[in-house]
Amino acid sequence: MSHDLESVAATLVADGKGILAADETVPTLTKRFDTLGIPSTEQSRRTYREMLFTAPGAAEFISGVIMQDETIRQKSSDGTPLAEVLSKQDILPGIKVDIGAKPLAGSPGETVTEGLDGLRDRLSEYHGMGARFAKWRAVIHITDALPSVVCVSANALARYAALCQEQDLVPIVEPEVLMDGSHSMERCEEVTGTVLHAVFRALFEQGIALDRMLLKPNMVIAGKEWPHSASVQEVATATLRCLRRHVPAAVPGIVFLSGGQDDRVATVHLDAINRLPWPKPWRISFSYGRALQDHALEAWHGRDENLGAGRQALYQRARCNSAASLGRYTDEMEATPVRAGSPPHRREWRDD
Ligand code: 13P
Repeated sequence: MSHDLESVAATLVADGKGILAADETVPTLTKRFDTLGIPSTEQSRRTYREMLFTAPGAAEFISGVIMQDETIRQKSSDGTPLAEVLSKQDILPGIKVDIGAKPLAGSPGETVTEGLDGLRDRLSEYHGMGARFAKWRAVIHITDALPSVVCVSANALARYAALCQEQDLVPIVEPEVLMDGSHSMERCEEVTGTVLHAVFRALFEQGIALDRMLLKPNMVIAGKEWPHSASVQEVATATLRCLRRHVPAAVPGIVFLSGGQDDRVATVHLDAINRLPWPKPWRISFSYGRALQDHALEAWHGRDENLGAGRQALYQRARCNSAASLGRYTDEMEATPVRAGSPPHRREWRDD
């Protein structure tokens, strides 16, 4: 496989393929394990990641996997480094390199993502361990008064992206406008547009090659406490409209985060966006964490005898999202009937 940045970016959003985000920090994965009574040890976390990375057939739908520091240093049960387990299946290893959202000084209720100190050396080390792309997430909260101008401009995404390209890694740039709160879909569209504009301005000013990166945005969705529900068509239309207004055509791919949406809803939304008849200059696919993993984690439940069921659950969501990335998903692809809704705890399983 060729590893120049343009071909890595193109490979990540190849026809019918998307990314598995399996980059929860140890505390976050521990919280998810806790809700199911699974002990969180280095060994159990390794077993879980290995299960996800070895789901038979999933490589047909998954182009890359985002790991975090512990995982990229781990070996599978037969002693193969997990990054190599992926690359042997032609899945590109990726790595989350931010160290989390921390309170933004002087701006109560907002966060800034940290991790720039020493980043050049860490990127170089990860590249040596097989990583070919990276991820950094900025977090934006919506309230009546937020986000502040300071928060929108303080994120370090452009510095991170410049360092990645210098170190031969494709940067995934992730500005996440959260679904928390009671804001409307219109307000989410307004804030998402403002944030994307600020992000691309900073990327331009800092000389980032837009054709060697991917964007990982939220969809345009009302806050979880907003009392009205939007149709799939409304979400798809607002999301694509916002992206068309603010994302340059040179970016090869947009890979959505799922952000706490029910897993099937995330699939249906991706499918509806891809079915819209408007011009789309970029590939539009997925880089889901919870929406790919939730069922696999529940099916496995920490038990060896369930590893096959966990792999099957991941395969199923990957297959459906692959179809959605082509606008070809149908309800009949689901092995089980549509559920009324996910248990609320799953939606809270996001990373710090
Ligand atoms: P979710 O799809 O669970 O939002 O996770 C994606 C991700 O990488 C968050 O940083």
